[in-house]
Amino acid sequence: MAAHAGKLVVVGAGAVGSSVAYAALIRGSAREVVLTDIDEAKVEAEVLDLAHGTQFTGASSITGGTDTALAAGADIVVITAGAKQRPGQSRLELAGTNARILERLLPAMLEHAPDAVYVLVTNPCDVLTVAAQSIAGLPAGRVFASGTVLDTSRLRWLLGERIGVSRASVHAYIVGEHGDTEFPLWTCATIGGVPLRDWVGPDGSAAFTPDVLDGLAREVRTAAYRVIAGKGATNYAIGLSAARIVEAVLGREDAVLPVSTVLDGQYGIREVALSLPSVVGAGGVRRVLEVPMDDGELARLSHSAEALRASAQSLGY
Ligand SMILES: NC(=O)c1ccc[n+]([C@@H]2O[C@H](COP(=O)([O-])OP(=O)(O)OC[C@H]3O[C@@H](n4cnc5c(N)ncnc54)[C@H](O)[C@@H]3O)[C@@H](O)[C@H]2O)c1
Repeated sequence: MAAHAGKLVVVGAGAVGSSVAYAALIRGSAREVVLTDIDEAKVEAEVLDLAHGTQFTGASSITGGTDTALAAGADIVVITAGAKQRPGQSRLELAGTNARILERLLPAMLEHAPDAVYVLVTNPCDVLTVAAQSIAGLPAGRVFASGTVLDTSRLRWLLGERIGVSRASVHAYIVGEHGDTEFPLWTCATIGGVPLRDWVGPDGSAAFTPDVLDGLAREVRTAAYRVIAGKGATNYAIGLSAARIVEAVLGREDAVLPVSTVLDGQYGIREVALSLPSVVGAGGVRRVLEVPMDDGELARLSHSAEALRASAQSLGY
């Protein structure tokens, strides 16, 4: 299995960071995978456990530890460090604690990895992207969040399962905040080229009535709460989502992924980070697309942006 050339540093060796490293090793997302954490015993154990499996992965290596100098020469840094969402806690409530962590962490990382692309996974990832871009002073395309890449994968799985079509043939996006104000873009959703709202079942009846669509949107929006209630964290799907983003960057793919970037006038929104379908390739986010939205979708986008703006401002960003 050929791995993508390049060095991936995953910061935070908790449930999420370890799963990012695991997915990256199995998928060959980067030739060099480095896992770091402030908890020495934890990171050493995770690195050992991952290394013990590398007979069965591709050529990628895994190393790690507590020293930020391990990030030297990184091409991409995925940040998962921080406190996690407790049952019932909203992502926005986490913001303060995790912003303070970034204020210490980012300058140290930038010293060793000044040319890297930085991907925020730590929640609330949109608000933290605004903070991170301001702390790092990098162009918006080089500091972005995994955003609704995970939520979009959840949506495509639900849609595909419902009608018995491969997820690979479903093109639909969740956009906006990675959190409570996120929403699906039904207007531009297609399955095998058929507009989603026109999809009919074998008996000719509409598969996606407004009630069905509302139910699916709600299921995606509350998915994390369900998983967290049952097992205390979400980790596998976000691990795969982050690995996919790493591949798009290191593989210079120019793939369209709904990552979260500080916007610069798209849909009239500035200085707020939220997810929109974006071209991701060499150097990070190369372009944020302005896909067609109906009036309802535009209103929800602006609601999401205002919620995120208020939250970033309450943190001083
Ligand atoms: N964006 C998404 O789609 C998504 C999905 C799932 C989880 N998350 C978020 O990812 C984050 C991590 O979740 P988790 O379940 O792995 O939590 P966790 O508590 O299992 O792990 C967090 C790790 O971060 C480490 N850490 C704390 N401060 C650090 C620092 N300054 N430098 C290095 N490491 C540090 C801790 O020691 C711990 O090992 C949370 O904020 C969670 O909400 C995001």
